[in-house]
Amino acid sequence: MNKKLYIKTYGCQMNVYDSDRMVDLLKPLGYSITEDPAEADMAILNTCHIREKAEQKVYSDLGRLRQHQTKRRESGEDMMIGVGGCVGQAEGQEIIRQAPYVSMVFGPQTYHRLPEMIAQMNREKEKKEGKKPKGLVDTDFPLESKFDSLPTPTSTASSVFLSVQEGCDKFCTFCVVPYTRGAEYSRPAADVLKEANNLVSKGALEITLLGQNVNAYHGQAPYSSSHGTNEWGLGRLIYELSQIKGLERIRYMTSHPRDMDDELINAHGEVPQLMPFLHLPVQSGSDSILEAMNRKHKARDYLEVIEKLRKARSDIAFSSDFIVGFPGEREDDHKATLDLIRQVKYAQAYSFKYSKRPGTPAGAMELQVDEEVKSRRLHELQGLLNEQQLSFNRSMVGTIQVILLDRKGKHKGQMIGKTPYMQSVPVTAPESLFGKLVKVRLESAHENSLVGALLSSDSANAMFSHMSESLERNDEV
Ligand code: SAH
Ligand code: SF4
Ligand code: F3S
Repeated sequence: MNKKLYIKTYGCQMNVYDSDRMVDLLKPLGYSITEDPAEADMAILNTCHIREKAEQKVYSDLGRLRQHQTKRRESGEDMMIGVGGCVGQAEGQEIIRQAPYVSMVFGPQTYHRLPEMIAQMNREKEKKEGKKPKGLVDTDFPLESKFDSLPTPTSTASSVFLSVQEGCDKFCTFCVVPYTRGAEYSRPAADVLKEANNLVSKGALEITLLGQNVNAYHGQAPYSSSHGTNEWGLGRLIYELSQIKGLERIRYMTSHPRDMDDELINAHGEVPQLMPFLHLPVQSGSDSILEAMNRKHKARDYLEVIEKLRKARSDIAFSSDFIVGFPGEREDDHKATLDLIRQVKYAQAYSFKYSKRPGTPAGAMELQVDEEVKSRRLHELQGLLNEQQLSFNRSMVGTIQVILLDRKGKHKGQMIGKTPYMQSVPVTAPESLFGKLVKVRLESAHENSLVGALLSSDSANAMFSHMSESLERNDEV
């Protein structure tokens, strides 16, 4: 039977990956995806708990789904509602209490059990002669890994995500992730290589390796090595992935500065498919704030890592996350962050006001910073970051770049591609080039995007092999 599945995804790329896996899981049960919740037989919210108001947002979205559910029931149909992701994990039973029309609550490590949960709900419903049974909650951290139970990804996209690592053992004092995603876990390297090979055989040209702390990756090696180490780090994994024919671009996120080891840094200099862009969050430039955040590194350590990476790959571009107004942050701490930004010169960045998360150590700290001060500091920080982003983008004007056209643009005939440096470039191009690598000349720059003109449509040509992507930024054309 053909049934419709609606999924709304919040938060990070790992949730995007998980939502895609849920689609793959439910396909054999007859579900195909819809963008319209009104026609959904099953609606899932894959939620994020990272910042304030996360729960409220979920409850208000649930309220809207309920209206669709009621309408569908009135017309003799039904809608099963599920809440997954990090709010599901954190709130659990509370969601069923506040929204009894929800059928299933699950977490990031239990969504592989969705088919069983659906079957159980249907059985209970039959027993109760069509009345909705009480919702199920499964927020375990199972011993078995979900990856062993998930079907092979069916994606045929040209740019895909591949989760290689899950969870986090770092316990930064502001962050809920170690509680919602659980302990750090790395998938065996053989499984990652198999999934990557499969994705490439289905058309992937770019793979972004994902993990909450992706560079903490230490997966079981496919074979034991003579030098005693039976694990691969992320650097080694990238070297091996670069051997896959047809895989033109490799990226990874999100990294922790403490886990940037030499093998990974060297990979940036030696693996041409590894794109010259790295999201490396620092959060703050002040040592005392970094300590209170439990980041376990100083500003100087971060700057040293940046320098090493620039030595390995001179054109590498950086982005970061920043939190302003962490408890106890004084004016000189804020200035230290601005200083660090001036030293690094970011190509882009995300910045947030600190928000209290329940159950985290920082939530209970004294000296919470006033909202007004947070807003002013955020404004200053973003002003500087925006200037840097614009000047980075301007430095590219006049160069030729290879972009991967993987998104439709706003206007007819328009598509958007990313440069190796993660800048978005909208271009007018024929539909047949969707999903392809093409060359563009960058003509002008805005803060968030560049304007480019298509140079060649001969995308299948070998000149688009990864070698052309290592074009120097200031190459004369
Ligand atoms: N694992 C990544 C980031 C995970 S969360 C890392 O270690 O950097 C994504 C970003 O959300 C964080 O980098 C941080 O900047 C922000 N964030 C997390 N908790 C927050 C909080 N309580 N208040 C404000 N921002 C927060
Ligand atoms: Fe959160 Fe810190 Fe872990 Fe990143 S490293 S997920 S910020 S606890
Ligand atoms: Fe959010 Fe969970 Fe990702 S809290 S950022 S969805 S790990």
